[in-house]
Amino acid sequence: MRPSYVLKIALIFVICFINTGAVLANGKALYKEYCASCHGVELEGQEDWKTPNDDGSLKAPPHDARGHTWHHSDRLLFFYSKYGGDEALKTIGVTGVKSAMPGFKDVLDDSQIWKILSYIKSTWPKREAEYQKKISDQDAANQ
Ligand code: HEC
Repeated sequence: MRPSYVLKIALIFVICFINTGAVLANGKALYKEYCASCHGVELEGQEDWKTPNDDGSLKAPPHDARGHTWHHSDRLLFFYSKYGGDEALKTIGVTGVKSAMPGFKDVLDDSQIWKILSYIKSTWPKREAEYQKKISDQDAANQ
């Protein structure tokens, strides 16, 4: 291989690496601004999140491995974030639930939502990340 090829390939790796870092840093900043008030600065969720509110709605769950965000496909997570809980649940046939998760479609564009989700996903350990990838692949295959 000519040295110039080696250099070009090395450069591509460096650019990808910097780019991934930038996406995650940006996603983390957006998360802190728009999501942390309910889901927690450290992704820990609302206090006592397993106990529903008095009106029967659920509290904001953690987004790290302690919660169940990693049980859901990319598509569902994206729908939840963009359209809110009620609309997202309808897409999987769940109706009649009052969700307290607001939609961010008027506040964030799609790429900002994906950046936030990339940041959330970057905190999952290998086992949770692999499980969630499997669920996402199955979901995509069923579309
Ligand atoms: C006003 C409080 C509030 C804010 C702000 C908020 N959420 Fe939520 N979120 C909730 C609640 C409450 C739930 C659980 C409701 C439910 O499942 O019906 C939830 C659930 C979710 C879920 C589904 C998780 C799961 O495991 O079922 C996702 C994904 C999500 N939120 C993403 C986000 C993102 C991304 C942001 C920031 C852009 C955000 N949320 C901001 C209250 C909030």
